[in-house]
Amino acid sequence: MHILGVSCYYHDAAAALLRDGQLIAAAEEERFSRIKHDFNFPANAIRFCLEQGQLAGKDLDYVVFFEKPFRKLDRILASVLQTYPQSWKVFRESMIGWMLDKLWVASTLQNELGMSRDRILFSDHHLSHAASAFLCSPFDEAAILTVDGVGEWLTAACGVGRGTDIRLTKRLEFPHSLGLLYSTFTAFLGFEVNEGEYKVMGMAPYGTPRYVDKVWKLVQQNSDGSFSLDMDYFCFHHSTDRMFNRRFVGLFGDPRPVNMPFFTESTGYPKYFGEKPSDYISKCRMNEHYADIAASIQRVTEDLLVGMAKALHNETGLKNLCIAGGVALNSVANTRILRESGFAELFIQPAAGDSGGALGAALWAYHSVLGKPRSFRMEHAYWGQEFSTSEISSFLTSQNILHHEAQGTDELLDRVTTHLIQGKVVGWYHGRFEWGPRALGNRSILADPRNPSMKDIVNAKIKFREPYRPFAPSVAAECATKYFELDGVAQQYPLRYMLYVTPVRQGQREALPAITHVDGTARVQTVYREQSPLYYALIERMGQATGVPVILNTSFNLRGEPIVNTPPNAFSTFSRSEMDCLVMANFLIEK
Ligand SMILES: [Fe+2]
Repeated sequence: MHILGVSCYYHDAAAALLRDGQLIAAAEEERFSRIKHDFNFPANAIRFCLEQGQLAGKDLDYVVFFEKPFRKLDRILASVLQTYPQSWKVFRESMIGWMLDKLWVASTLQNELGMSRDRILFSDHHLSHAASAFLCSPFDEAAILTVDGVGEWLTAACGVGRGTDIRLTKRLEFPHSLGLLYSTFTAFLGFEVNEGEYKVMGMAPYGTPRYVDKVWKLVQQNSDGSFSLDMDYFCFHHSTDRMFNRRFVGLFGDPRPVNMPFFTESTGYPKYFGEKPSDYISKCRMNEHYADIAASIQRVTEDLLVGMAKALHNETGLKNLCIAGGVALNSVANTRILRESGFAELFIQPAAGDSGGALGAALWAYHSVLGKPRSFRMEHAYWGQEFSTSEISSFLTSQNILHHEAQGTDELLDRVTTHLIQGKVVGWYHGRFEWGPRALGNRSILADPRNPSMKDIVNAKIKFREPYRPFAPSVAAECATKYFELDGVAQQYPLRYMLYVTPVRQGQREALPAITHVDGTARVQTVYREQSPLYYALIERMGQATGVPVILNTSFNLRGEPIVNTPPNAFSTFSRSEMDCLVMANFLIEK
């Protein structure tokens, strides 16, 4: 039986294909369309999934959309009416979108896939989130928490999963949203909403959470974990282009100018920013103030999530927790939930945001609607498109690109290890691309984490990113506890997907300066031989050569672009950056 899950028209669009309950393919549309966070109908991702399953649309038994369009329309109409006339613009713009796409999603799916209407199902947005985590987790029974900006009416939900059954018993409704609270601060701090949330998280350790009391004026939490926002400070419920209002500015001061370079006295002024400004010190103070605000919203977000998880733990008494929704990508908060909520183990799948809804919708239909038993567990994130050695070879030859073909894996690993130790930055491209926003060793940029200047080198050469963005370490799973504080949790799944942030052990921080964040933590990825044989072998080889089986891993893309998919994408990114070397399958290209 073949089931295709589809999510689109809001955040990241995606498709996922199940065959008899086993995942065959899952991919976000942005990798094909090259539009970051592409939310349009995922025609390319669907085509890829069908090709991977060697199917035509008519072969599908069911197509499942990740939410119910009419329920969402209902929410928009109701909130527009409550805030009319301020909300007139929202209403007009939403209606254009709804009339063009959203209400016609069933006919679009019918036309694109050539299937009858009775084989198209609709899940609920938060049920899709819940299913996307629980139904591919290792747990037969677990508590479930979903938290996002908003999906249909809901902004959070919790309940219990048992076998193939999911019961979401508590719900929080729009506009009371933790995702939108965090996004409001993302906008206030001068970043793009739905894109800059990682930056807020990266900026927070440079500040002191001295405005926590002020943030608590915006939000109140109840003893059952639920919370409410004081809407007098916000305007996201009636505006298309503003998240916060004058009262909010009265509390926190002027917003941080968009595109203002971030540096503080502790980051220093990176050379690639150009000449040091004459008012350097006052700019540092200004950024420190905003870092304090970032630290404050990050702290309150963590406290709210820990409060929700604690209440859920008390209520269910269960050992395990599955989390999904965009907020589950806050890896700093995840670690605090793990340590403080009472749950012994967490499961989060790599595409925890709305793209993951495609997977959840398909899993929900197969297990919860059709009652089929579970047999799939998500052991890795490599569900995207792959290009064969001969496809890569013909691309290189057709473009007259000078390259060296390694004679076997040993030579390849030796050469790459030598490059890394010499301080070179390597594009590393092989196998199927990753599901979710993180590069996990198949579409990655790699460097030596022992080199104290490597953070600046990679930032300057490759990413042109702000200096506070930390780079993540990939570590051989068996050695993870030697370098990182992971006692008792080193086997947990979120580590495979870089979804925990944990302290680097005292005494190892000096050995790993390029992946240790300013607060002594790192966003660790544990790598297993069975799931990532080639990447694991490279990390192991680095361990043999340097004594440290850790590699700096950042996503293979330039600032503002999606992670690379095809060989031409990879080569173009390599050419436009100052990366030293590109490895595609067993081909090496050097500058
Ligand atoms: Fe969502």
